[in-house]
Amino acid sequence: MEFEGKTVLITGAAVGIGRACAIRFAEQGAAVVATDVDPDTLAALAEELSAYGDKILTVVCDAGDPLSVDAAVRRTTETFGGADILVNNAGLWRCKTAFVDTPAEEWEKFIRVNILGAVYFTRALIGGMIEKRWGRVINVASVAGVYGNANMAHYSATKGALISFTRALAKEVSAQGVTVNAVSPGSVSPSEERDIDYTQPSDLSFTGRTGTARENADLICFLASDKAGYISGQNIQIDGCRKKQ
Ligand SMILES: NC(=O)c1ccc[n+]([C@@H]2O[C@H](COP(=O)([O-])OP(=O)(O)OC[C@H]3O[C@@H](n4cnc5c(N)ncnc54)[C@H](O)[C@@H]3O)[C@@H](O)[C@H]2O)c1
Repeated sequence: MEFEGKTVLITGAAVGIGRACAIRFAEQGAAVVATDVDPDTLAALAEELSAYGDKILTVVCDAGDPLSVDAAVRRTTETFGGADILVNNAGLWRCKTAFVDTPAEEWEKFIRVNILGAVYFTRALIGGMIEKRWGRVINVASVAGVYGNANMAHYSATKGALISFTRALAKEVSAQGVTVNAVSPGSVSPSEERDIDYTQPSDLSFTGRTGTARENADLICFLASDKAGYISGQNIQIDGCRKKQ
């Protein structure tokens, strides 16, 4: 199996793309550390992943809180000796506020989770990857970070920053066997849907539908695999050929 002997840590793993990643990595033999700030949905995921035995660890963790991140990484290290693959997926995105009406606290909240969350986890885990001379960091950004979405200026800015972070960091660590990439989803099926193959019509893409959680997870799994060892510093859009920018 592709990820036998590898450990993946996923943030925001309880629902949506994160949950689909947890399922797909577990199915392919990885030890999975699923972290999320929401204890209830994370408990449901733990139950769901129990079929994969003792290679699953769930940890309640606020990605935007450095102490909480350190504690989650400590448990990961105690349990599995570190993580080979990091999927920085936790993100806040539900917002529709004109820039002029968006308070500073809202900017700070989005920056804390969407940018600093990825920074804290990456900083804590990348040393171990460099030591092993093998590692994968995959940041879940957004087409909003590429095109910019009206009434989502703060969200768009954080995802743009995540893409730049990806490109810069890749230049520092690729020579040491660690690839760093971003994926930028367009419209994804609602994360409330439990079926990871669920899709619905969407006029935001030329394919006329939303992307499934599985499609997003499978792109992330590919970037995490040995097959993608020569891909680094990229932002790959998974948006069904986006119409509106
Ligand atoms: N859904 C979309 O259409 C879409 C489009 C583009 C990008 N994205 C990105 O994909 C990622 C996942 O989105 P989704 O829609 O699949 O899931 P979602 O937004 O429904 O859920 C995200 C998960 O992250 C968790 N989370 C939120 N704040 C957290 C924190 N501080 N620490 C840890 N976990 C936290 C939530 O509890 C939840 O389980 C996000 O980064 C989002 O910006 C989503």
